[in-house]
Amino acid sequence: MEFQGISSGFTEAGVDALAVAVFKGEKASSPALKELDALTVGHIASAMKTGEFSGDSGEVLSLRLTPKGKVKASKLLLVGVGEKSDYNAYGIAMAAGCATRTLRKANAKSFAFDARVEDAVVAAQNTVQGAITSQFELDKYKTKDKNDKLVTKVVVFVNGAKLPDLARGVERGRVIGDSMNFARDLANEPPNILHPTEMAKRAQAMAKETGLKCEVLDEAKMTKLGMGSLMSVSYGSEQPAKMIVLRYTPAKNTGKKGELMALVGKGITFDTGGISLKPGEGMDAMKYDMSGGATVLGTMRAIALLKPSVPVLGIVAAVENMPDGKASRPSDVVTAMNGKTIEILNTDAEGRLILADAVAYAETQGATKIVDMATLTGAVIVALGDQNTGIMGNDQALVDEIIDCGKSTGEGFWQLPLSKEYSKQIRSDIADIKNIGPRGKAGTIMGAVFIQEFVDKAKWAHLDIAGTAWFDGVRPHQAKGPTGVAVKSLFELVERSQ
Ligand code: BES
Ligand code: MN
Ligand code: ZN
Repeated sequence: MEFQGISSGFTEAGVDALAVAVFKGEKASSPALKELDALTVGHIASAMKTGEFSGDSGEVLSLRLTPKGKVKASKLLLVGVGEKSDYNAYGIAMAAGCATRTLRKANAKSFAFDARVEDAVVAAQNTVQGAITSQFELDKYKTKDKNDKLVTKVVVFVNGAKLPDLARGVERGRVIGDSMNFARDLANEPPNILHPTEMAKRAQAMAKETGLKCEVLDEAKMTKLGMGSLMSVSYGSEQPAKMIVLRYTPAKNTGKKGELMALVGKGITFDTGGISLKPGEGMDAMKYDMSGGATVLGTMRAIALLKPSVPVLGIVAAVENMPDGKASRPSDVVTAMNGKTIEILNTDAEGRLILADAVAYAETQGATKIVDMATLTGAVIVALGDQNTGIMGNDQALVDEIIDCGKSTGEGFWQLPLSKEYSKQIRSDIADIKNIGPRGKAGTIMGAVFIQEFVDKAKWAHLDIAGTAWFDGVRPHQAKGPTGVAVKSLFELVERSQ
């Protein structure tokens, strides 16, 4: 996709269509719509009068324009963005996405968009990101019926803006949008193609392209490091586990002295449940059980290209959870890297087993702040559905900061409590801890207090993205499937720590 920023001449842009954000209850005579209303000989005013278009968020009205004089576009799109007071960065991205998906259906190849925002960086970044993520489709493996009608050019209009600001916003939006789609593509890959070795290869290729350092620990190395918890999940698989370690080092570090943020992701490339086998129905969904790892890779990609001035460590534990003669059994006891012993009572609670060693490893690499993300529990879907990621942690300031990042990116994070009382519920009769809590009780919290046992001094937050990493319906601005959740918010978190 091609992008361009302009600060004047919106109605004269050399594109197939013009698109404009419209607030709820706005009048056709408002300064921004007046000229457009005249170009459509009053059709905006009449659509508003009849109630055909009200400006609700997600509403789109397509009107014909007659190209004449300096006007080249033959279509005008009104894109509802809801109440002006609720309009934010996410609203811009959504509106740009709605416009893109509506116009490509109509075979338009290019459009100019007025997001109605004064800040040129914000307008351009979110318009571009929204346009890019809106065209992601699940059709990678189709040999026909591919979605080949694509919008190829978007012109971002911000009245009177400085062109370098528009260019900066375009660049940021392009990197963040592409990085979200990079994560989404990984999550969508079938597990016979994206096994741990392939995930590591994709990470290495991305690192090479973007200038990150990438190290991949193999099973021999992980065994030597004492990662008995992670390794136990891999025993039943023919596919060797990989620990992907990405390092971003800024030219100049302006962050707090000694601080190192680590993003740690669950990369279960397929989760059968192991010997505690999952029911067959719906098991196919478990290809997205590496979405936490995908989010780490996507966020690291954005970091590498947009270069914040703080170092970041990215770690993905890539493992396949399969049942076979070598697989671990319920009642096995294993020892994690930090020396704690774990009684495995359910081999389907495998995400926490691999994250235990991954967060412990992050700390040995100097991490002082750890954010882990994982499709960890079905319970978080029961609790929060697909609108909020569950967040828990040992440091309220870090949790609050992530929640706040989500407010500006439009991603919901909802905190669940941790406490010593909850931690007691994973004490084992025969080992230090067990990998499940009492049946049917606080499943999401049990996952978190388990991981917490492997964090030593670092500030830590845990994101349970089981409900938010995949969306099972089509949205006006987004295809069905992987969402790339938390890439935007974590990138913002890193930028805020500069
Ligand atoms: N990957 C699953 C969690 C999951 C379930 C994600 C459904 C998305 C949709 C995880 O490994 C798992 O199986 N968790 C168990 C834990 C239980 C055995 C304590 C669960 O949630 O049932
Ligand atoms: Mn599982
Ligand atoms: Zn899992």
